[in-house]
Amino acid sequence: MNTLILKKNEIDTAAEIILKGGLVAMPTETVYGLAADAFNSQAVANIFKAKGRPMDNPLIIHISDISQMHELVREFPESARKLAKKFWPGPLTMILPRSEKIPKEVCAGLDTVAVRFPSNEIARELISKSVPLAAPSANLSGKPSPTNARHVYEDMNGRIEAVIDGGECSVGVESTVISLAGETPVLLRPGDITAEQLREVLGDIKIDDAVIHPLKEGEKAASPGMKYKHYAPKADITLLSGSREAFIHYVNQRAEKNRIALCYDEDMQELKLPYISIGGEHDYKKQLKRLFTALRECDEQNAKIVYAHCPQITDESLALYNRIIRAAGFKIIEI
Ligand code: TXA
Ligand code: MG
Repeated sequence: MNTLILKKNEIDTAAEIILKGGLVAMPTETVYGLAADAFNSQAVANIFKAKGRPMDNPLIIHISDISQMHELVREFPESARKLAKKFWPGPLTMILPRSEKIPKEVCAGLDTVAVRFPSNEIARELISKSVPLAAPSANLSGKPSPTNARHVYEDMNGRIEAVIDGGECSVGVESTVISLAGETPVLLRPGDITAEQLREVLGDIKIDDAVIHPLKEGEKAASPGMKYKHYAPKADITLLSGSREAFIHYVNQRAEKNRIALCYDEDMQELKLPYISIGGEHDYKKQLKRLFTALRECDEQNAKIVYAHCPQITDESLALYNRIIRAAGFKIIEI
């Protein structure tokens, strides 16, 4: 199969591919998604095949109008309506009781479904011109999520019908995921919309343990995606926890071939080994936007060992922490 690269004025072509049961990678404000008709079981099964994704990891359905909710969920509770009003369209995914109409492949056999209304104009136009779209991130399973069309092409060339080039994603990491299917709302994956912003609308919410801790042996994941190694380049990433000075001292002493520092702008002048900066030390938005691209750049530079700062855990930095500890396989050294 030859993967087409479509421009943003070729969305009609993309919609035709979707309606025929094909796979199209589309930009969203978070990361690129690998989309198929959410009501077509075979097309959904092909998403799992193209990504090499385990079948027990459910997909998010993307909508372009609130009126599409009724065919996807059994209940649309007040809490979800309030969140929709405040954050949709935007980088928030809600887990709700699922409708029977959704093929079981989408939800991996669970009784719930994840729904998101993206703000990206291209994604919205594609959905409006076709159907609600099941779409995971458009990377090969385990690799960093793609934040531009080139990343998608590297992973998916020959595996999917087309990718729409919509430039760089503005957020750079996946949506915030909150479950509203139980008694208390639970944050399953942090993102651009923070726990504090959700609390402002919902009052108290729980943060799932797996957001910052590895799952214990035999423990069941509330969000199946949390149990897999993720976002990882080929290199071995080690997180260093300590002051900026300690970081510089530690990595400079280990400046050898094929080692890279994933650093902040403030570090650059003092480093004695190749580095890739992800932004200013306190500029979390920029760091989120840069992180996945920087991880792919580590591979391009043939890094074997990557040293990165272990971020503090604050409301603003939680999404960054969540991604980077997974990329590092939870390996943290106190320095
Ligand atoms: O920003 C995003 O959310 C991107 C763009 C393309 O929209 N999509 C994305 O999809 O990140 P994916 O498949 O890479 O991540 C979806 C996460 C997985 O961790 C999955 O386990 C979880 O959401 N999830 C999906 N349905 C679920 C459900 N019913 N219950 C619990 N977790 C669910
Ligand atoms: Mg993903």
